[in-house]
Amino acid sequence: MRNIAGFNSLTIGNVKLKNNLIAAPMAGVSDRPFRQLCYRFGAGMAVAEMFLANSAVWHTDKSALRMLSEEDSGIRAIQIVGADPNEMAKAAEFNAKQGAQLIDINMGCPAKKVNKKLAGSALMQYPNLVADILTNVVQAVDVPVTLKMRTGWDKNHKNCIEIAQIAEECGIKAITIHGRTRSCLFHGEAEYDSIKAVKQTVSIPVIANGDINSPEKAKEVFQYTQADAIMVGRAAEGHPWLFEEIAFYLQHGRQKPAKTVDEVEQIVMEHLDALYQFYGEYKGSRIARKHVNWYTNHYANSNQFRRLFSVLDNTSQQIKTLKAFFNQIRNN
Ligand SMILES: Cc1cc2nc3c(=O)[nH]c(=O)nc-3n(C[C@H](O)[C@H](O)[C@H](O)COP(=O)(O)O)c2cc1C
Repeated sequence: MRNIAGFNSLTIGNVKLKNNLIAAPMAGVSDRPFRQLCYRFGAGMAVAEMFLANSAVWHTDKSALRMLSEEDSGIRAIQIVGADPNEMAKAAEFNAKQGAQLIDINMGCPAKKVNKKLAGSALMQYPNLVADILTNVVQAVDVPVTLKMRTGWDKNHKNCIEIAQIAEECGIKAITIHGRTRSCLFHGEAEYDSIKAVKQTVSIPVIANGDINSPEKAKEVFQYTQADAIMVGRAAEGHPWLFEEIAFYLQHGRQKPAKTVDEVEQIVMEHLDALYQFYGEYKGSRIARKHVNWYTNHYANSNQFRRLFSVLDNTSQQIKTLKAFFNQIRNN
């Protein structure tokens, strides 16, 4: 029976998620260390960063780091981006061989770099090409294929219902909709009417995305759209335990007690350690900067610390500085 607040398990094709709270793919953020934290703190699935379908770049470090492996915990879900149906099918096949249990197709990315090549959200303007890509990818792999899109190209061309119907006909197993058009980029507020309309139209699972930044908002979006799942992106940056907070709220109708400073410190330290190991010290310490900024920017008087941390490129200095910061917070 459907839980009143929407919290439930979710099955996508043959993949069973323990719940219907999903961590969004975010290039430059959703790497293995971040996804592991999302899983640990209650996400039912965490989708890996987009992987370029163009095989000419697969040998690069960037692509190699984005590939899934046996070391990935949780459901191994990866997103592919491209515009050529054959290339997309090959990329799906390649990732399935690497161990992907679910392939997501990116039709939501608004980046000029991506849209220039007619990929990401630009594809929504060409429904015939969308159908070709989806059919090719679905036929290429045994694992479920999902689609992530926006509501349309701009406010005069909101065609997410049409694309969702095409997707369902092509064998796509779930659809995520970010409640903005391409031309909105990240401006304004996400709208949920289009997501609700898609949910009323198709029978495959619909995943609502956009501006879900609290347990209350999660509940509202579930109730308003009747979506089968929600996807959270930016609000999980520096706050990957948001998933367990949402789960708790939806189950119990009250807030989970906030993490203590000690608990947050431990999570950040573990995150940094995982980043250093995953990327190596040089790259890991640079990537650590933005995560530490997100983890600490809500603490009063953290500006000076964050400015200082943003130029540290030595892992032991980073750890030392961070420890001193948390000590200062505790003593305040
Ligand atoms: C830094 C960043 C990187 C992103 N990268 C991707 C991506 O690779 N693929 C994708 O489909 N969406 C990407 N997105 C969009 C998110 O998945 C999500 O749809 C969007 O942020 C709206 O959700 P939110 O309001 O919960 O953040 C990215 C967003 C951000 C902020």
